[in-house]
Amino acid sequence: MSGLASTPRTLIIGAGCMGQFVAEACLDAGIPTYILIRSTRNPPSKTETIKALQNKGAVIVHGCIEDQPLLEKILREHKIEVVISTVVCFLEQLHLVEAIKAVGTVKRFLPSEFGHDVDRVDPVEPALSLYKIKKKVRTETEKAGIPYTYICCNSIAGWPYHDNVHPSEVLPPLDAFKIYGDGTVKAYFITGSDIGKFTAKAITDERAVNKTIHFRPKSNMFNVNELASLWEKKIGRTLPRKFMTEEDLLTAVKELPLPGNVVSALTHDIFIKGCQVRYSLDKPADIDVCSLYPDTPFQSMDECFDEFIAKFPEALRAPSHN
Ligand SMILES: NC(=O)c1ccc[n+]([C@@H]2O[C@H](COP(=O)([O-])OP(=O)(O)OC[C@H]3O[C@@H](n4cnc5c(N)ncnc54)[C@H](OP(=O)(O)O)[C@@H]3O)[C@@H](O)[C@H]2O)c1
Repeated sequence: MSGLASTPRTLIIGAGCMGQFVAEACLDAGIPTYILIRSTRNPPSKTETIKALQNKGAVIVHGCIEDQPLLEKILREHKIEVVISTVVCFLEQLHLVEAIKAVGTVKRFLPSEFGHDVDRVDPVEPALSLYKIKKKVRTETEKAGIPYTYICCNSIAGWPYHDNVHPSEVLPPLDAFKIYGDGTVKAYFITGSDIGKFTAKAITDERAVNKTIHFRPKSNMFNVNELASLWEKKIGRTLPRKFMTEEDLLTAVKELPLPGNVVSALTHDIFIKGCQVRYSLDKPADIDVCSLYPDTPFQSMDECFDEFIAKFPEALRAPSHN
């Protein structure tokens, strides 16, 4: 076995949306957590996030993922055993792979996946090109013989806006829903804190070495119609439904600038083509996270929507735009 400590020294690259959830969960699990931050000059909200993570015990190191010599130095100096990348500059992760290979002491690498199984899905461009890069990072990691775990957590919980890259940070609609297709295609919605929590569990789990972990809890499987009804129950009123056909989504893919075009392409893949539910976990490397941790519950969408209501009380009191 790899001889990984129960709380291995872990380096997280980036503290954006996903990085923050993963870092918080690692810190909550008592894992010595180092976070690579690109800049010393950050907007106030980012500075606050970093401060909060430091207060929980995170050690901040500065640098960027393109700087291979610096990455090697950080990995050696801090005796890093696990590396979790949460960047969106996917190709630049090849420098990280090279650094991990050169140092030779990292026992687990989690590249920036945190979405769909890129070996199985083929969204329209420009998402397809990004998936090809994620695949390339997988290939190079495997070629280098670095032990890995791929986290395929499906959709982060929130209203699945077709043009917003961070739905977990925005209130679900208060004026009207956009329903993709006929709204009946299912997907999995996992809260950011659960993505972090199960990722933190997987990094020390020998069963997750060289495996793809799929997040498919039945309790968190919804279609857009069901999500809309749940949100209506929470806010105590019904909202109009505007339908976005496949053609409308493909037009949005063509017309929206980055990153909205990528999000629209993924929305099309999820809610029109059913990319999260149209295959079964039948490869030797597949593991359903629920089979790994059957006794650990997932936060429900009901609780997730309650959290939105608690987080945005002013918006909910304000009259709706419609
Ligand atoms: N399943 C889902 O629904 C879902 C939703 C969102 C994201 N994701 C996935 O989660 C992963 C992370 O996405 P995210 O939304 O968390 O991204 P994000 O919020 O944009 O955060 C990316 C982080 O990487 C840092 N970074 C960027 N370039 C860097 C560089 N050259 N060197 C070092 N750090 C760098 C950024 O730092 P700065 O602040 O300095 O830019 C930021 O902290 C991606 O794989 C994405 O596809 C999945």
